[in-house]
Amino acid sequence: MSSEQSLLDALATINYPGFSRDIVSFGLVRSASFENGTANVKLAITTSDPQIPASLKKDAELVLGEVNGVETVQVEIAVTKPKSTPPPQGAPGATNQQSAALIKGVKKIIAVASGKGGVGKSTFSVNLACAFDHVINEKNGSSAVGIMDCDVYGPSIPLMMGVRGRPTIEEESLVPLENLGIKTMSMGLLVDADTPVIWRGPMVNKTIQQFAQNVNWGDLDILVVDLPPGTGDAQLSLAQNIPLDGAVIVTTPQEAAVSVTTRGAKMFEKVNIPILGVSENMSYFLNPANGEKEYLFGTGGGEKAAEELNTTLLGKIPLDAAIRQGGDAGIPIVKSTPSSETAQAFFKIARQILESLS
Ligand SMILES: Nc1ncnc2c1ncn2[C@@H]1O[C@H](COP(=O)(O)OP(=O)(O)OP(=O)(O)O)[C@@H](O)[C@H]1O
Ligand SMILES: [Mg+2]
Repeated sequence: MSSEQSLLDALATINYPGFSRDIVSFGLVRSASFENGTANVKLAITTSDPQIPASLKKDAELVLGEVNGVETVQVEIAVTKPKSTPPPQGAPGATNQQSAALIKGVKKIIAVASGKGGVGKSTFSVNLACAFDHVINEKNGSSAVGIMDCDVYGPSIPLMMGVRGRPTIEEESLVPLENLGIKTMSMGLLVDADTPVIWRGPMVNKTIQQFAQNVNWGDLDILVVDLPPGTGDAQLSLAQNIPLDGAVIVTTPQEAAVSVTTRGAKMFEKVNIPILGVSENMSYFLNPANGEKEYLFGTGGGEKAAEELNTTLLGKIPLDAAIRQGGDAGIPIVKSTPSSETAQAFFKIARQILESLS
């Protein structure tokens, strides 16, 4: 016997093109009814890609036609064009308009991402934020930069930025903590240090959504968002809920890291978020004894990832003990030693990103 539920069950077997998540759990089904042998389904999606509604319609007609008792299928898809142009935000059912309004005052937002964990993404994010601060200051005489830690599984940004204490709440918004001239907000600041952060998929979605929309950043030239590794719900939710201007992909020099990195990056392509470039971390060891570069992890990973993603290699960050020490001490190397080769590499990357965003 067909019922609304059996239609929904059938629709739940359809994944949104390019995602491992189905259209029902994405909340894209507006209505599903069944009467006199006719299944009537309405979907609502936000995309600028005409192939997506076409492909969803075809899939829906196919699976609904198989439901017991269904003779005719009517699928209607309401397509909304993404609001924020440029760049288009094509995430399914995206609420970019709402979040864009709530992150008002923030001129540019970029995400730092990698399909692989432990490549130094958070380290890269804090140093990049500090590099933006330096480069924008140099150019304009002042700068306002923020960093948002969306890694709800293992937040590390507060430690690396040397911020302590809990953010306060003013007028129902979280006020970021500030150190070294950078505004910092992290999930890590909202939970007890010893509370194990066990978030499940749907909770992560909701948390990030609320988190992203309830921080009072004030006026910012640029906000750097540190994503958790991988291509799971958290990243997708973020891509949907924050009006990202672009993403920087971090990888390591090993060839083996490339496929995981590019897989992670493909998610951004699917939601129309431009990839601003690839940065290689731990590229080489600068031997302090003789000043020679030693390629401990091999070479070519950054070049290969950039090529596969059809983007540029923004730069290479050395494996530098001072980077780790800076992270542990809560003063990123870009702030503590701006004259170092490592800091200079970050400035170069920051300049290129700012250029491609302007
Ligand atoms: N270029 C570098 N030179 C030396 N140490 C580095 C470098 N980059 C990162 N590290 C160190 O490697 C460790 C892992 O870095 P980090 O936490 O930034 O990685 P991550 O990719 O954010 O990890 P996760 O996937 O767990 O979020 C840290 O101890 C950090 O100090
Ligand atoms: Mg991290």
